[in-house]
Amino acid sequence: MNNLSDRSLVNGISRKVRAPDLIRMKERGERIVMLTAYDATMTRLFDRAGIDLLLVGDSLGNVILGLDTTIPVTLDEIIHHTRAVARAASRALVVADMPFLTYQVSTEDAMRNAARLFQEGNAAAVKLEGGRPVADTVRRLTAAGLPVMGHVGLTPQHVHRLGGMRQQARNDESAQELILDARALEDAGAFAVVLEAIPDTVAEAVTSQLKIPTIGIGAGSHCDGQVLVSYDVLGLFDTFVPPFAKQYAQLGQAIMHAAKDYANDVREGLFPTNNTQQPTNQRSCRPPCDPQPERSHV
Ligand code: KIV
Repeated sequence: MNNLSDRSLVNGISRKVRAPDLIRMKERGERIVMLTAYDATMTRLFDRAGIDLLLVGDSLGNVILGLDTTIPVTLDEIIHHTRAVARAASRALVVADMPFLTYQVSTEDAMRNAARLFQEGNAAAVKLEGGRPVADTVRRLTAAGLPVMGHVGLTPQHVHRLGGMRQQARNDESAQELILDARALEDAGAFAVVLEAIPDTVAEAVTSQLKIPTIGIGAGSHCDGQVLVSYDVLGLFDTFVPPFAKQYAQLGQAIMHAAKDYANDVREGLFPTNNTQQPTNQRSCRPPCDPQPERSHV
C-alpha cells in the first residue's frame, strides 16, 4: 500500500509534495498539515494518512533519545533518522532540522552541513531556527537550490537565552521584532516559516503579511498550516505534554497493555502455543525457510 498509485488526492496533490506547492496551497486557502517523523514504520502510516510534510525534528532528542533539550542532537543523528523517513515517504515532503550550531558558525559551514542532509539523508528541505541573524545563510542555501523552512517565536535551540520554553512575542515591541524576522526569512527565500508559541494575534498578523505559508505550533488557528510532535498527537510521550498539543490517541497506554499481556502469556505458558502449521507471514516465509520446489525432469 505504499506506492504512488495507492495515494488518494489530498490537498489537490497525489504526487510527491514539493516545496513550491506550499505557496500554491496558501493561495488556494488549503490548510497545510505537518507532523514530526523519526522512523520508517511511522512514516509509512503518516504518508498513507495524507500528511503533507514530515519533519525530522531535533525534537528527536527529547522523544527518541531521552534528552532534556534539543541542544546535544548531532547532525549525524538527524541524517540517520532522515534517511529512514525519506526511504518510507512516498507523498510527503521530508524536511530535516539543522541541529544546534550546524548553521550559525559560518555560511560555509551551514552549506556543507545542509548538503549532507540532502546528499546523505535524502531530505527534500531543511529547517533552521532564527530570524534576521540567519537570513544571509537562508539566502545562500536557497540560492544553491536548497529549500529552507524558517522557524521563529519559541526556538528551542535558544532555550538557555530565552530562560525556558515560554511563549514569545508577548508585547508590542517583541511582536514587531518577530514580524521583521519572519519577513526577513521570506525575503531571503524561505518557502515557509514555523511560528512556535506566540499569541494568536501575532501569528495572524504574520500570516497576513507573508506570501509564504506559516505553519503554527501553539500559535492559534490563523496560520496556514499546523505542525505537532507526532509523539504528542499519538499519546506516546507522557513526560511532558505541551498545553497546545491535542492527543488523538493513547498509544502509550495501548503499548503498555500489549507488553503486559505478552509478558503474562509467556510467564503463564500461554505463548507460544505448539505450532503445527507452516509459517504464513512474509517474514518467516523468506528463503531459506521456504525454498523453491525442485523441478521435475521426468
Ligand atoms: O523539532 C521539532 O520537532 C520542531 C517542531 C516542533 C516544529 O521543530
